[in-house]
Amino acid sequence: MMNRRTFGHLLAAGTALAASCSTTTDAADDKRPAAGGAEPSLDSSLTSATPAATEPVCIADFRALAKAKLPRPTFEFVETGSADEVTLRENTAAYARLKLLPPVLSGVSATSLKTTVLGQSVDLPILLAPVAAQRMYHPQGALAAARAARGMGTVFGVSSSATNSIEEVAAAADGPKWYQLYMPKDRTVAERLVARAEAAGYKALVLTVDLGEWKDADRRNRFMLPREMLLKHLRDIGFAGVRDGWTEADVVKFNASAWDLTFSWEIFDWLRSRTKLPLVIKGVLREDDARRAIDAGVNGIVVSNHGGRRLDTMPATIDRLPHIVAAVEGKAEVFLDGGIRRGTDVLKALALGARAVLIGRPYAYGLAADGEAGVKRVLELLRDELENVLIACGCRSVGEVPASLVLKS
Ligand SMILES: Cc1cc2nc3c(=O)[nH]c(=O)nc-3n(C[C@H](O)[C@H](O)[C@H](O)COP(=O)(O)O)c2cc1C
Repeated sequence: MMNRRTFGHLLAAGTALAASCSTTTDAADDKRPAAGGAEPSLDSSLTSATPAATEPVCIADFRALAKAKLPRPTFEFVETGSADEVTLRENTAAYARLKLLPPVLSGVSATSLKTTVLGQSVDLPILLAPVAAQRMYHPQGALAAARAARGMGTVFGVSSSATNSIEEVAAAADGPKWYQLYMPKDRTVAERLVARAEAAGYKALVLTVDLGEWKDADRRNRFMLPREMLLKHLRDIGFAGVRDGWTEADVVKFNASAWDLTFSWEIFDWLRSRTKLPLVIKGVLREDDARRAIDAGVNGIVVSNHGGRRLDTMPATIDRLPHIVAAVEGKAEVFLDGGIRRGTDVLKALALGARAVLIGRPYAYGLAADGEAGVKRVLELLRDELENVLIACGCRSVGEVPASLVLKS
């Protein structure tokens, strides 16, 4: 709960915060040529006016810290989107297009962020999306993210490519976790992964269905996990036959051929026959796919375009959300990710029918900047912003966010 005193403090602090956390593009920063002479990724809504030399007060400040700390190819792996990054930009630009129309004199002085996701109580409707390669951003990788999520009372969506094993992440923190599955071609490996996630106490299985990133920056940088990390990752997944003596080329070749990128809807029957865990499909943008997912028995749908990392020129997720919510007719919980950088973004997603949102890049920045403490701080900043805007919009809880708050132009 946030009371009037905290709100008053935020009001008083407002002017100071605005000075350090502009959303204006820093041309000098982002026009720096990347290797190969092309422009680096531009997510202008995320570019802090001032490099965050002082205490970060917004996600843009954490982005600046991550950029300063990470090797450029690693930062660009986190940051960039596919092809011309139309979808990447749209994900954030679409929030700016949606305007808020709050009622005045609502008399609301406190609000609650608590909710449930797939039957699990959480302290805030902001979850951590599955993000690959976390030990590239901080030595503690997904272990740090798991502890931060636990500390903030939220769900950690653990990527199958997080670079820590299912069991390592489970041992790091006992907070609620969802396991995001990339499907190995070898179904016995997949079957064991499902059983391992269930045995380790994960609360849901997330099947990502928008597969195959296509990013110029990563190809230009020849970005890949270091050999040792990739070897450990493949072993963590449970692939038999991975050999210590393999060259980097061997490991990369094996990894490229190990995953199934072409499965179809039958996969949900297969999963359902192997687990009682709630099933979530991640990567839905079309109404007919949402209805098909319901028929396939999923419990949750993540409206996602993979953070603009896969097929360029797909629409912004917030623009698709109301259509998916209407198609689902309350038969599954609907989540959204992509472009969430502000409390107002979360509020708009809730108003348009999301049960909760997930964040990807924002917590990757936090992890790079300061490990567990950085991820926790990112969640705190978004939580505080959400509390502030809920009160400003007269909402007593995250369950009472009316669609009428969002003015569609
Ligand atoms: C560095 C990075 C790695 C990602 N790795 C995965 C992954 O392993 N599995 C997955 O389902 N999605 C992955 N995603 C997509 C996120 O789960 C999420 O859909 C996206 O980041 C949301 O957009 P946002 O970054 O604007 O918050 C990744 C995203 C980023 C930025």
